Formats: sequence, structure tokens, C-alpha cells
Amino acid sequence: MSLLQATDAEITALQHAAELARTVAGRTSPNPPVAAIILDPQGRRIAEGVTQPAGSEHAEVIALRAAGELARGATAVVTLEPCNHTGRTGPCSQALIDAGVVRVVFGVSDPNQQAAGGADRLREAGVQVLADVDQGEIARGVLRPWLFSVLQSRPFVTWKFAATLDGRSAAADGTSRWITNAESRADVHALRDIVDAVVVGSGTVLADDPQLTVRGLAGASEEELAPRQPLRVVLDRRHRVGKEYRVFDDAAETVVLDTAVPRFALKALYDRGVRHVLLEGGPTLAGAFLEARLIDQVVGYVAPKLLGSGTPALQDAGITSMADAVTLEVSDVSRLGDDVKIVGRPVWPTGQEE
Ligand SMILES: NC(=O)c1ccc[n+]([C@@H]2O[C@H](COP(=O)([O-])OP(=O)(O)OC[C@H]3O[C@@H](n4cnc5c(N)ncnc54)[C@H](OP(=O)(O)O)[C@@H]3O)[C@@H](O)[C@H]2O)c1
Repeated sequence: MSLLQATDAEITALQHAAELARTVAGRTSPNPPVAAIILDPQGRRIAEGVTQPAGSEHAEVIALRAAGELARGATAVVTLEPCNHTGRTGPCSQALIDAGVVRVVFGVSDPNQQAAGGADRLREAGVQVLADVDQGEIARGVLRPWLFSVLQSRPFVTWKFAATLDGRSAAADGTSRWITNAESRADVHALRDIVDAVVVGSGTVLADDPQLTVRGLAGASEEELAPRQPLRVVLDRRHRVGKEYRVFDDAAETVVLDTAVPRFALKALYDRGVRHVLLEGGPTLAGAFLEARLIDQVVGYVAPKLLGSGTPALQDAGITSMADAVTLEVSDVSRLGDDVKIVGRPVWPTGQEE
């Protein structure tokens, strides 16, 4: 086995690290959700760690502490290149060197200019480094929003909607509960659980008075609030939403933004440390985001119901011809009971991702 090739144990550890990292998605921003695993020279797992909430310790430091003296001569398997900068914590590359780790295998290189260079620092100290071992699972999975936000200087935007088979997101009389089934709605709570912020327009708050919290996660009763809640964001240019709405209860933090330009709203959220936004509508706001090409992933829940009239799932996106239709590159289609969930990435008519 070449030293510059990952061993089976390292590949398995990286897969395990990707799963571990998913458990802290939405909890580490502006830092990335990362996991690190320490293997002994025989490839046995000694210790593991995940990034702690922002400002606190990185995955490598947690894993090294758990490994203690056993880290000397060991291999560290990390989902992202160990950082090289002293921010609120010291550089992880140096921590690995100081702990006596002899080999570092990581999934994805760090595109963040401030933090990159960890691999070089490790190599200079004589540590064997195996870079970019990820086959796409990490870069297209748990790290995707964070990697995107580093490169674009704005949060990654997932637009989620629920619609009938004929594309309606509310009935003509304004009722919208419930379009989708309980399984789909539970899935939405799981989605909220991994983002930093949930964004809606004033129209949705005025029409539905949603609480926009994460509730009923695995094992909890349907209405039980999760311990961690994403930031709730209401885009309300004309200050139409009064404080009596449920979005202002004390279940989670809420901010109101009155900027008319979605890009500026995203910039304001980015400056607050938000790296992944779940845009929950409604159709007017989703249209504005789509027209500005500020939607990076679409998650649609389609229920086998027909309305024939009512609010469309999306409106006023500036599209009037089939030639300008936004096509989705579909990454997943699944069934939740009789509902269908579709996940895709917009492919803009120019063929370029913004
Ligand atoms: N099924 C679903 O997935 C789903 C999800 C959400 C909503 N809905 C349904 O959608 C309906 C509400 O529709 P809606 O279109 O009024 O909701 P909306 O898109 O949430 O709100 C639209 C309002 O957002 C405000 N806004 C703030 N910044 C904006 C910007 N940059 N661009 C555009 N608008 C901006 C505007 O009001 P100001 O000008 O006053 O700021 C606008 O009228 C309800 O019936 C609700 O049930 C369905």
C-alpha cells in the first residue's frame, strides 16, 4: 500500500467522519461543521471529535484531547483540511503537529484564504499528508453550504416549498394547512434543524402566522421544541408585521429585515455568521430570489392533491417563456407516504451557477 493512498481503515474513518459532521450542521457557523477521527497505527479508532459551536474548539482539538498520549504516532482523518490560522482558536495544523500525529488524511481542501495552508504547514513539519480524499460525498453533502459561502461571500440558499400536484401552495380561500402529510412536515423540521436561518416574507407571516421553529425531532412529541433553533428572519419592507405574530414568541431569536433587495438581505445575514438559509417562501419572495439567481438548492414537497385555483408555489420570477425556464439538476427524488420530495440544483439558462 502506497503511503500516498488512503487505507481501507482511513476511507471508512472518513465516511464515519462525514456522518459525525452531519450531527453538527447548523450549529457551528460561521465555522464549518467538521469531524476528526484519530486512528492508531493499526487503523483502529482511538478518538473522535466534532466542531463545537462558533468560537469554541475545532474538531481536531477535541479529538486530540480525547486521544491524549495515544495521538503520538497516530493518523488523523478529518473531513476538511486542518486550519492554519489563529482566529478565536489556535491553528489545528499546529495542534496536530504538537500532539505528534504522523499522518493526516483529509477530505476537502479549505478554500478559505484566511484559514488555508494547513496541509503545507503539516508537510513542512514532516507529517505525511493525504489531501482531497473525498469522492464528493462531503463537498456535495455536509460541507456544501459552507464551501459555497466561503467562495460566494453569501449564505447558501435552500428554497423549500410544499405544493399540490397542480402547483398550488395555498387554496383560494387562503387555507394552506395541510397541503402535505405528516411525514413531509416532519422532514421540513429536520431540514430546519440543519440550517442557520429560516427566511419568510411578510405575506407568509400575515397569512399563516407560522412559528418557524424546529419541533418534534426524532423521539420528541410533535410540538416539542428542539434545543437548538435557527434564527427566524422576516423580510418586511413596509413593516406590516406586528409583534403579536408567533414568529416573535420567545421560542427562538427573530430578526426583521426591511431591505428591498434579496442580495442585501443575504449579505446582512452573512455578516451575522449565517452560512445556510432555508427560504420558506412564500411565492412572492421565492420569485424575487429566483429572479436574482439567489436560490442554490430547491426542496419541493408535492402532495397528490388538486386545487385548480389558489396561490401558486412560485410567482413573478421574471420568466415568461419556456426558453427562460429554470431547470433543476435533480439529485434526489423520494416518497414520503404518498407525497413526493424532489431535491435539485437550479441550472441557470446561461448554464452557469451563480
Ligand atoms: N406551501 C408553502 O410552501 C408556502 C410557504 C409559504 C407561504 N405559502 C403561502 O403563500 C401565501 C403568501 O404569499 P406571499 O407571496 O404574500 O408571501 P411571501 O412571499 O412570504 O411575502 C411576500 C411579501 O414579502 C415582502 N418582501 C420583503 N422583501 C421582499 C423582496 N425583496 N421581494 C419581494 N417581496 C419582499 C413583500 O411585502 P412588503 O412589500 O410589505 O415588504 C411581499 O409582499 C400564503 O397563502 C401562504 O399560505 C405557502
